[in-house]
Amino acid sequence: MSNGIAPIGVFDSGLGGMSVAAAIHRRLPGEAIVYVADSGFAPYGEKTDAFIKTRSRTLAQWLIRRGAKALVVACNTATTQAISLLRSEFAIPVIGVEPGIKPAVQSSAAKVVGVLATAATLRSGRLQELLSSHGRDCRFVCQAGHGLVELIEQGTVAGACVDALLDKYLAPMAEAGVDTLVLGSTHYAFLMPSITRAFGDQFHLVETGSAIARRVEDRLTEHGLRADASVANPALHLYSTASETRPLQRLAHALCLVGSEVASVSVDM
Ligand code: DGL
Repeated sequence: MSNGIAPIGVFDSGLGGMSVAAAIHRRLPGEAIVYVADSGFAPYGEKTDAFIKTRSRTLAQWLIRRGAKALVVACNTATTQAISLLRSEFAIPVIGVEPGIKPAVQSSAAKVVGVLATAATLRSGRLQELLSSHGRDCRFVCQAGHGLVELIEQGTVAGACVDALLDKYLAPMAEAGVDTLVLGSTHYAFLMPSITRAFGDQFHLVETGSAIARRVEDRLTEHGLRADASVANPALHLYSTASETRPLQRLAHALCLVGSEVASVSVDM
């Protein structure tokens, strides 16, 4: 398989990374993508560091066996816990997703930034580094989004259950004067309409999908791995480790990712 034709391999603990895959597809429509949602093992945010590292390695190996020319870890939790390991083990470019602490600090007028992320991301050394390197004149209010990923994995991104959790996690942030909210899990990008409905323009929302798509473009270009522009309609293949793959299919439809070939099947690994 020549580099141009080879796909970009993208993985997440589940459906959240589809927000990143969609941004990559919009920016680089000529690139084939193989996406694997580890929904059978989600949520990563409530698992141990060792578990997250092992699953990340397994998914990366699987994508590389399928010919991936670059890997996108479309998961803040897996990036903060496992990206160094993946970079040390695999020779292809590995691009990760981190909570957008720096852009949030830059855009916060009040200098009070909320960080909604998984428990595993919040306890990671990498997040602590980001907070201390950008937090000189900024206060952070960090909150783990327990239960949100489980709802999103079922395809629930709005409604009473979502609103109740958002109120529990974000109302105290609003009271603390937060004006900018980092969505520190790729899953949470799908909650943006619900957050805006509940909190109006209280929070400027920071998510990193399009920034990651730009980084993917830069890394592919640096490594001479861009797809040949003459390849029309490159394949977009979606896989899930869950036995129920309908939420992934529905999400692909909602994101208008079904123009190209979409194969959604269960993989057991
Ligand atoms: N999508 C993952 C992230 O960006 C987290 C979801 C999970 O807890 O599995 O952190």
